[in-house]
Amino acid sequence: MTRFLITSAIPYINGIKHLGNLVGSQLPADLYARYLRQRGHDVMFICATDEHGTPAELAARKAKMDVADYCDKMHAVQSELAAGFRLSFDHFGRSSSERNHRLTQHFAGRLAANGHIREVEEEQIYSVADGRFLPDRYVRGECPACGYAQARGDQCENCTKQLNPVDLINPRSEISGSTALEMRLTTHLHLCQSAFRDQLAEWIDSQHDWPKLTTSIARKWLRDGDGLQDRGITRDLDWGVPVKRGDEDWPGMEGKVFYVWFDAPIEYIAATAEWADKHGHGDSHWLRWWRNDKGARDVRYVQFMGKDNVPFHTLSFPVTIMGSGEDWKLVDYIKSFNFLNYDGGQFSTSLGRGIFMDQALALLPSDYWRWWLLSHAPEYSDSEFTWDDFVTSVNKDLADVLGNFVRRITKFAAAHFDSTVPTGDWGPAEQAFAERLQIRITRFQDRMEALEIRKAAQELRAIWAAGNEFLQDAEPWKDIRQDKSKAAPTTALCLNLVRLYAIISQPFIPDFSASILQCLNNPHADWPENVAGALKTLPGGHAFSVPDVAFTKISAEQRDRWKARFAGADKPGNAAVDTP
Ligand code: 2FM
Ligand code: ZN
Repeated sequence: MTRFLITSAIPYINGIKHLGNLVGSQLPADLYARYLRQRGHDVMFICATDEHGTPAELAARKAKMDVADYCDKMHAVQSELAAGFRLSFDHFGRSSSERNHRLTQHFAGRLAANGHIREVEEEQIYSVADGRFLPDRYVRGECPACGYAQARGDQCENCTKQLNPVDLINPRSEISGSTALEMRLTTHLHLCQSAFRDQLAEWIDSQHDWPKLTTSIARKWLRDGDGLQDRGITRDLDWGVPVKRGDEDWPGMEGKVFYVWFDAPIEYIAATAEWADKHGHGDSHWLRWWRNDKGARDVRYVQFMGKDNVPFHTLSFPVTIMGSGEDWKLVDYIKSFNFLNYDGGQFSTSLGRGIFMDQALALLPSDYWRWWLLSHAPEYSDSEFTWDDFVTSVNKDLADVLGNFVRRITKFAAAHFDSTVPTGDWGPAEQAFAERLQIRITRFQDRMEALEIRKAAQELRAIWAAGNEFLQDAEPWKDIRQDKSKAAPTTALCLNLVRLYAIISQPFIPDFSASILQCLNNPHADWPENVAGALKTLPGGHAFSVPDVAFTKISAEQRDRWKARFAGADKPGNAAVDTP
C-alpha cells in the first residue's frame, strides 16, 4: 500500500465550469483517486475553489453581489455540481479559508526571511474614472503577441501568453471601459524566481517519467526565461489574503493582498488542513501528507491540470516550496492536458458556447459524460467534442456493448434459473476465457497506473466487448433447450463477469457500478487480482435481480436538438431552442 496525495487544479469561483474545464483536471484526478482506492492505497484527494483575484471580484460585480457572498454562493453551486459528477474529493476547500490566509502569510514570511522577496516601487495602471489601480483582468486591450483585441491583463485567452496589464495595446478599464488610464507609482513584493533557475532546471530534468506535455512547457518557460522573471506577488485589491509576514504586519503593504496565483496553489495544502479541521483531527494529520519531516516522505504526490496551468506548477509554486527552506513536499508527477474544443471552435463562457456542468447533468446522467470525456481525454493533442461522436460513443460503448451484455445475461438467467446464479463446473472454454481476461485486465491496470487514460478506456471497452463475444460463441440459449445443465457454467461465468465489469469500470462510470452491485446483492467490490477466482465469486444459488436498463440510447432527434441548443448565443435561433 502506498499513500497517494492527489490534487486537481482548483477552479475559479467565477461561474459554472464547462466540460473542457472538467476533463482538464477534476475528472481525470477523480478517475485516478477512485482507481487507487480500489487497489487498496491510502488516498487524499484534494480540490477547492479559487476565490481570489480579479476573476472573483469582476464576477461578483457583474452579479451585483458582495464578493464574499458571491463566493459563498458559487462554492455551494460548484460543490453540488462536483457531487453530481461524482467527484470523490476527500475535501473540496476554499482558497478564502482562514487556513489559506495563515499558510499564505506563513510562506511569504519564510520567503522574506530567506531573502527571496524584494520590495519594488513600480508604475501600475491607475484609472482616473474608477479612482483605483487596475491589476490583471481589470484591464483589457490588444495582445502584443497575437493581436487578439480582447486580451486580458494577466493572460491572453487566445495565445495563452502571460501578460502584464502594461503590455496591452490600447488598454481600457474592465469596470468602466474608460481609457483615461495613467501610470502611478506603488510598491509591490516581487518573488525572486530567477534565482531558482538552476535548481528548477535540475529538478525538472530529473523527472524522466513526466508526460512530454508537462516537461516541454516547463522547459520552454525555463529556456525563454519568460516564466522565470521575478514576479509581483501582491496587488492593490481589497479582496484576497492581506499581505503579512507570517503573523506580523508588513510595513508599506497596508491595504494590499497577495496575488491570486501566489495563494491558489498553497490552498492545496490549506485544503488538507481544512479537511483535518472538519474531521476534528490535529495538525499532525494533515502535515503527514505535506511535510517530509512529519511523515510525508513516502507519499506520492500527483497533480492534475490543464496545460495553461503548467508554468505555475512547475516553476512558481515550486519556488514557494523550495524558497521556504522548510521540508514541504514537492510534486512527484504532473499529469497535464491539452484543451478540449467544442464542435469546430472553442468552449466560450461569454458566448454561452459549449456545454456547462449544470446543463450536462440536466440532459443526461453523469456516467454518460464521464465515459465520453475520459475516453476522449485531450492527452496527446487538443481534442474535440462533437455531438455525433458523443452520441455514437454512448450508444455503442455504453448501450450496445456494456448495457446489452448486462441485460442479455441477467434476463436470461432470471428466466431460466429463477434469478439465481446456476451451479456448474467450468469447461475449457470458460477456463480459456478467464486466462485471456487476466491478460487484458493486467494491461488495463498498467494503463491506469501509467495514467494513459484514453488507452485505459480503450482496454476497458475491449474487455466489455470480450464478454459479448464469449456469450455469443457459447450460445447458452441453444443449450438451454436440450440440457439446462450445459448452459449453467457459461451463465454463471457471465453473471460473475457482470460483477467484475461493475468493479473495474467503477472509476469511469461509478453510478453504473453501484447499481449493478446492488442488483447482484454483492457489496464486496474487491479488485479482481485473480480473474479466475473473481469469476467464481457469486456462488451457485446466489440470488440477484435484473437491473433496470443501464444506458438509454440517444436518438438522432435529441442529438440534433442539443446540437442547435448549445451552438452558442451567436448562432441564429439559439435562444428560441431551449428545452432539454
Ligand atoms: O486556471 C484556473 O482555473 C486556476 N484557478 C487554477 C489554479 S490551480 C492552483 F494553483 F491552485
Ligand atoms: Zn495573444
